Amino acid sequence: MDPLVVLPAEIVLRILHYASLGTVTALAQSSRPWNAFIESAHREIIYASKAPLMQDAVSLKEPGQCFRHFNTITRLGEGVESWKEACRRLILLERSWRDEKLNPRETLIQVGNNPVWRFRPDFKRRFIVSTSHAGGLNVTDIDTGQLLWSLDLGTVRRFAHLEYQDGTAVWDRFQNTLEVWKTDLPGLKRGEFRQVALLPHDVITRGFQLSYQTLCVVSSESQGFVYDFPPYPEKPNLRKCIEIEEGAVGHLDQDEEFVMYSMGTQGYHIFNKTSGELQGHIHPHMVDPSEIYHISHPIRSVTDEQVFFTRYTPAQTRRHEGLTRLWIENGPLNDTVEGSEVPVLRKLDHDEWGAGMVNGNTMVGFSRDGRLVLCSDWRRALRSQEDFTAVTCVIECDPGGDSFDLGGWLHLHETVSGKRIIFEIKDSIYILSLNANGKLDITKPGFAAPTCSRSELAVPVSFMGVYDDCIMNTFTSLGVDSIDSGWTEDDDLLDLVGSDATRRHFLTKAIRTLNLAPEL
Ligand SMILES: *[C@@H]1O[C@H](CO)[C@@H](O)[C@H](O)[C@H]1NC(C)=O
Ligand SMILES: *[C@@H]1O[C@H](CO)[C@@H](O)[C@H](O)[C@H]1NC(C)=O
Ligand SMILES: *[C@@H]1O[C@H](CO)[C@@H](O)[C@H](O)[C@H]1NC(C)=O
Repeated sequence: MDPLVVLPAEIVLRILHYASLGTVTALAQSSRPWNAFIESAHREIIYASKAPLMQDAVSLKEPGQCFRHFNTITRLGEGVESWKEACRRLILLERSWRDEKLNPRETLIQVGNNPVWRFRPDFKRRFIVSTSHAGGLNVTDIDTGQLLWSLDLGTVRRFAHLEYQDGTAVWDRFQNTLEVWKTDLPGLKRGEFRQVALLPHDVITRGFQLSYQTLCVVSSESQGFVYDFPPYPEKPNLRKCIEIEEGAVGHLDQDEEFVMYSMGTQGYHIFNKTSGELQGHIHPHMVDPSEIYHISHPIRSVTDEQVFFTRYTPAQTRRHEGLTRLWIENGPLNDTVEGSEVPVLRKLDHDEWGAGMVNGNTMVGFSRDGRLVLCSDWRRALRSQEDFTAVTCVIECDPGGDSFDLGGWLHLHETVSGKRIIFEIKDSIYILSLNANGKLDITKPGFAAPTCSRSELAVPVSFMGVYDDCIMNTFTSLGVDSIDSGWTEDDDLLDLVGSDATRRHFLTKAIRTLNLAPEL
């Protein structure tokens, strides 16, 4: 008997609340009364309950609002007038991430002629803040590539590290002092920042990270600092000095309550940000041998290669043929190269751990030798050795990249289709997905995206991030000279171009976006 006939509408709605979107759309097509019930009488209520991320009380009248916490390069939440449309866009986005052939559209922004060092996108304000190899800082419109505001070479040091959160930027200047700048203050135009604080330190600072309105700083001299960043005009204030072991390499990450320091051969050390108490250590080499996997580096296909790029033109995105697929296989990497007896990989317990990140229950870290450690529940991993082995695996990848000393970047983010981890191996960015339990899904392929237009130009990535509809990273390629050739020579890069580089084309690092948003 048809429930629509025998049950009151409220009960039917209640049932549909628990039905999948697929069931709802199938029902809507099953008969005229069902179609009327779902597509006319109760459309918004039904579809609203199907949109993921609906937990935080979004008004039923504003379906576009369910995109408001999204970090997207496209304007995915714009012009969404119904919950059905919101569902449609979310499902298309999810499909795009889940595609067996990851097929992004690619764009490049060349910020001036100098190679970009660090950058951070602000998707809400629609700009990108970047520092460069030569010094200076630029704010560039994310949609047009136009320069909005800048600080010159004399004001911001070469290779300045940049942290950014919601209108607040932090970078380092000489002598262990950090600069704190803000935008959106009275009298500032769009993209313009003003200095609001200087944070001096009398120990050598190695790294800093800003999120959760908290700046965590790490010194190689056994100290960590936690600063609260209250809303303007209050000044940042020191919440806690944390005593840590010697040997912090400079990478660190935090969540609401904890800060995690990368300690090289000592793994990762996690502390309470408020009390400064040690919460525990993560020693990746203690992984169970049955939980070691490997990925063989793919041969790059010629279609990945591109010789030139022009300045950013939103209309000229380049479609990939699909990124190169990667397969995660059981067991450690075969570390003997043909004709050589010397193993390429260092022993696991001698490896050095760098960049690490936490996100919800997930913790990931990256090593000098190209290993990735993944804890699906890091709080549990800290409890005991048994707990650690139950939730931890290591993936060995081709070593031989020299990117480690320059950053060894890694990034982790939860997309609509689950968590994604990105990290750099040789001339590629590896993209791996986790399943709903935060574990590695070895039945699904990973992907490799090139970090440079030609392998021989490979220069380590100096920033990369994965967001809700895209992946962004620094990308080495030949730049096109602009009219005023204010290019400062960078020895590292110049070596690669050779002395006969033409005047019009030169090697530089731009900002590359791999855009996975559906075309609406
Ligand atoms: C900022 O942009 C200007 C103009 O394009 C360029 O000359 C300068 O080198 C850029 N600076 C940085 C730090 O990228
Ligand atoms: C961290 O320390 C603070 C202050 O001692 C305490 O209130 C809080 O419960 C601790 N957090 C955790 C998760 O242990
Ligand atoms: C490892 O690679 C070498 C060289 O390619 C090969 O000779 C050897 O059989 C491989 N070993 C295993 C266990 O696959």
